[in-house]
Amino acid sequence: MTTEVMTRAAAVNGALPNIKTALPGPNAQRVVAADARLISPSYTRSYPLVAKRGRGLMIEDVDGNQFLDFSAGIAVVSTGHCHPEVVAAIQKQAGELIHMSGTDFYYESMTQLADRLSRVAPMPGPHKFYFGNSGAEAIECALKLARYHTKRQGIIAFYGAFHGRTMGALSLTASKPQQRRRFAPLVPGVTHVPYPYTYRFGNGQSERDYGIACARFIEERLFKTTMPPEEVAAIFVEAVQGEGGYVPAPPEFLQELRRICDQHGILLVADEVQSGAGRTGKWWAIEHSGVTPDIVCIAKGIASGMPLGITMSKANIMDWVPGSHASTFGGNPVAIAAALASMDVIEREGLKNAAKLGEKMKQRMQGWVKTHPMVGDVRGRGLMLAVEIVKDKQTKAAAGADRDRIVESAFAKGVLFLGCGETTVRLSPPLIVTQEQADYALDVLEKCIGEVERKAS
Ligand SMILES: Cc1ncc(COP(=O)(O)O)c(C=O)c1O
Repeated sequence: MTTEVMTRAAAVNGALPNIKTALPGPNAQRVVAADARLISPSYTRSYPLVAKRGRGLMIEDVDGNQFLDFSAGIAVVSTGHCHPEVVAAIQKQAGELIHMSGTDFYYESMTQLADRLSRVAPMPGPHKFYFGNSGAEAIECALKLARYHTKRQGIIAFYGAFHGRTMGALSLTASKPQQRRRFAPLVPGVTHVPYPYTYRFGNGQSERDYGIACARFIEERLFKTTMPPEEVAAIFVEAVQGEGGYVPAPPEFLQELRRICDQHGILLVADEVQSGAGRTGKWWAIEHSGVTPDIVCIAKGIASGMPLGITMSKANIMDWVPGSHASTFGGNPVAIAAALASMDVIEREGLKNAAKLGEKMKQRMQGWVKTHPMVGDVRGRGLMLAVEIVKDKQTKAAAGADRDRIVESAFAKGVLFLGCGETTVRLSPPLIVTQEQADYALDVLEKCIGEVERKAS
């Protein structure tokens, strides 16, 4: 990269919001009206942001307003919007080969990316890789692979989990009733059990104790009542639950799951679609627990916005034969080029920044639990951070509408956050966020929380 490009990239990285029109502006209103006429009403828009261009942390809308993006397009643009190295890799690849279908032909970049991921895998090699186009596809692959390899049918997943919306992935998802309403019957054989969301359901226990209790529920209740362990193929788990509320699992919970899996020949599948690719300050969130999974599902942040879903397993597990599973577009060369370039940036800057700046941000936010009556809990790892909003700290009554108002009010001030879970604000900025941008976003978030608190009191 030339010095000029690098300076420009640094300048955009440090940019801050600038709101010039009432929101939504006239052009945004036109697009929102067309969208209402033409686009599936199943999408869940929190506020009328109509994006036109992005650079680093900044999103400019169709009316020239500039926003600071603390959502990263739902935890996807790990390297920031249009990182110059990612853009250059995409442009180069698009000029050379856009598609040939890795399911029927070969291209070298697929093995290069597999090699690269193998070097940072959270379990010992050798590994094998399946390439698809989305998080849900990475989960579908893991689900089918687990059944194929073990010749067992049963699957265990957790309340609060989000694994995607295709029928197989949806069968594992247990995040919001609307995601499942009127779609039954789903894939049979899936059972949900409690996830260690200690703040809300721990009943005063420590994170460790509640984590262990949740894992032992599988052994002591499930296996002794409805689910013979020898019929279970896999346990699917998010080391930090994402859509369910940005809830990190205590390490002891994951360690217990590993022990249970080992004891009964069950595969442990880590869904790292949202928590992976450096977001928590390590390549994979499960690494914080020291637990090694058997299968890892990857998507979102790995290719900075190009569609790519990857299922990585210990090599011996991927023992299916030609024709068992494939997808025409999976592992598209342009998406792979974006992933390789993204991995360079994440390795060089993202991991360290996510760990260091994320910790600083969390420390500041944790102070809010004392100073703000509606901040019930602050949690997270790296740049996967959350503030849980409650009506009352004693009852912990959920305040979903107030949470929504906080997110909308931040949008009006030029900072993009998203909610998750029933009553939580999530912070998932690109991993290249600067200290100045983090301070700005936290100032805005605190101000919005204060406004809602004053209205509520
Ligand atoms: C943990 C997790 N798994 C799977 C998915 C599904 O990914 P996609 O929306 O790319 O299908 C998501 C999406 O939010 C997710 O957060």
